[in-house]
Amino acid sequence: MRRARAAALSKAAVRGRVISGATTPAANVHARVETGRGLLAGAASADTQPHMSALAGKRGLIVGVANKRSISWAIAQAAAAAGARLALTYPNERLEENVRELAATLKDAVVLPCDVTSDSQIDALAASLDAEFGGLDFCLHGAAFAPKADLDNPVWQASREGFRVALDVSAYSLIGLTRAVVPLMKKSGGGSVLTLTYIGSERVFTNYNLMGIAKAALEASVRYLASELGADNIRVNAISAGPIKTLAAMGIRNFSSIRDVYKERTPLRRNIELDDVADAASFLLSSASRGITGEILMVDAGFHVMGGA
Ligand SMILES: NC(=O)c1ccc[n+]([C@@H]2O[C@H](COP(=O)([O-])OP(=O)(O)OC[C@H]3O[C@@H](n4cnc5c(N)ncnc54)[C@H](O)[C@@H]3O)[C@@H](O)[C@H]2O)c1
Repeated sequence: MRRARAAALSKAAVRGRVISGATTPAANVHARVETGRGLLAGAASADTQPHMSALAGKRGLIVGVANKRSISWAIAQAAAAAGARLALTYPNERLEENVRELAATLKDAVVLPCDVTSDSQIDALAASLDAEFGGLDFCLHGAAFAPKADLDNPVWQASREGFRVALDVSAYSLIGLTRAVVPLMKKSGGGSVLTLTYIGSERVFTNYNLMGIAKAALEASVRYLASELGADNIRVNAISAGPIKTLAAMGIRNFSSIRDVYKERTPLRRNIELDDVADAASFLLSSASRGITGEILMVDAGFHVMGGA
């Protein structure tokens, strides 16, 4: 049975198909045999490691790690534990050391600069990834920012410049990054792009303000990109996460009170934690989700189904 499955996986890899992985507990993956890179590496290890992970041998880009509380860091850890080789980025010198320290705890991770507001840095990032990995299987986009004054202001008082910056960093950057990684994903026979959003894109949440508008643009971008890139077997999805205490979240006034509301009102009667998002992300980044694109997956303990009463 095991042999037949391994043989089928090897055949599929030789044909260049994206391989759907199995159900490995992350810890087992560390024991897999390192035989090379990419798709074929995953298939080859299946001969000796029948519990191959869905991300084994995959090469991924992670944008949005600031510190150990970052959602992108939780996703990076889950993807690495599932066998992926990663490149992590930092946007500026201030965060470089943090990202390098975290990346050093992963196996063979690469650290590269990328301020997502800079086309030249995005292009340089893609060139470095090509040189290092020779292709790319997935990309996590976890960057967001709005100037503090504009985030604190009601939307009707947002400045033109604040609006521009918020939309550039938090929404356009998905398009810019995707454009840069498409050639690398084409080399790999396809890929998965994932971004992070919040339900404030479709409903009004006190203090979410300008970021709600940026997230609406981000989610619309997911749908257009998914439709345009599907023919190249490149999927584009988003996770809409419930509130989690991170650096970005602490920029939203009274953030803790949002978590209190979730705890009371979600069907699961609890808040979302980093590992809830990381597990869902591992699924969407892997070929286990190969039939899913253009999706905004709600990882919010069910909050979105509740009415007002
Ligand atoms: N924390 C939450 O409650 C929550 C809920 C839903 C969605 N999200 C989204 O998750 C994503 C990650 O945020 P987080 O909560 O982990 O906070 P975080 O502060 O850890 O991550 C935000 C990241 O954006 C990066 N960034 C900002 N400007 C950048 C630039 N110019 N170039 C490159 N990177 C830049 C920061 O360096 C940081 O790593 C964001 O899109 C956020 O809106 C967060």
